[in-house]
Amino acid sequence: MRDPSIEEALSWLRKGRGPVAFPTETVYGLGAPALSPRAVERVFELKGRPRRNPLIVHVRDLAMARTLTSDLPREAERLAERFWPGPLTLVLARGEGIPDIVTGGGPTIAIRVPAHPLALELLEAYGAPLVGPSANPSGRISPTRAEHVRVSFSPTEVYVIDGGPCTRGIESTVLRLGVKNELLRPGPISVAELEETLGARVVVRSEHDGEGEGALPSPGLLRSHYAPRARASLLDEVALRLALAAQPKAGVVIGLTLTEVQAPHQLIEMPRDAEGYARALYGALREADDTDPSHIWIEAPPREPGLWLAIHERLARATAET
Ligand code: TXA
Ligand code: MG
Repeated sequence: MRDPSIEEALSWLRKGRGPVAFPTETVYGLGAPALSPRAVERVFELKGRPRRNPLIVHVRDLAMARTLTSDLPREAERLAERFWPGPLTLVLARGEGIPDIVTGGGPTIAIRVPAHPLALELLEAYGAPLVGPSANPSGRISPTRAEHVRVSFSPTEVYVIDGGPCTRGIESTVLRLGVKNELLRPGPISVAELEETLGARVVVRSEHDGEGEGALPSPGLLRSHYAPRARASLLDEVALRLALAAQPKAGVVIGLTLTEVQAPHQLIEMPRDAEGYARALYGALREADDTDPSHIWIEAPPREPGLWLAIHERLARATAET
């Protein structure tokens, strides 16, 4: 027996009623048939997403991935075997029949197999690839619970499959394979794990790439992203205490080592391990933002490789000037 929410989601997709938000291990995605330009248009429209920012296509397995690319190199196969289903997106040569709107008109396509039983059930039952950008208005905080999706889109526009809280909590690692293997977005799969599987170096793009005009290597690398409405800053403990003392109006601290802050400010205590921190991060940013604070101060986590690198990248964007 299929989950009833999958039946309803299938009916939405088949009748073209609108996108379907689905849970993944990273964040919730806004799903629509990848081979239907009209359905994909609607996703851009609902998110208010710039057209030049291409989408990740979600597939059931490697076999479905093959239908989307003109060239699946041996390296991609090895990565897929090790990390799929899982939080790794591969940017590969675009195959035939892919609508321009999916790839931003570019020669590549981003593909991943999500590791969530409901996402896999949906892909299996629908039987064709689905685009799945994070299910949030463009530039805002990604959703890690069904409720987060419901506050952004009306139930007449988007059907939401509730799969509970996302276990990873931040978006997939995006890797472009080629003569040079490039990390386009750090994420739960680390550079060390990728290099080990590839037996080759992975180049990490600098934080500022992707700004400015023209075609972007990975347009999601625009600087301000994952942003709360309130002003937010990333500070170490000492600078943070000074900032708190100087602000009389109630703000929120997203703390790591701090265990208390002075009134009127509030503290959200974060898990100290990277996995726990990543899982809690977007929920904490939303919780802070929902109090309409004078400011959100984020205590800077350790500058370490692996998952902390991905967390830092998200924090840098959440606190970037728009
Ligand atoms: O974890 C995830 O990847 C989530 C879940 C729902 O799967 N999805 C997600 O999608 O984060 P989105 O659209 O929010 O981010 C997609 C990222 C963007 O940075 C985009 O620019 C990049 O992938 N991207 C998509 N297609 C690309 C391509 N052909 N070349 C380079 N970058 C691409
Ligand atoms: Mg996104």
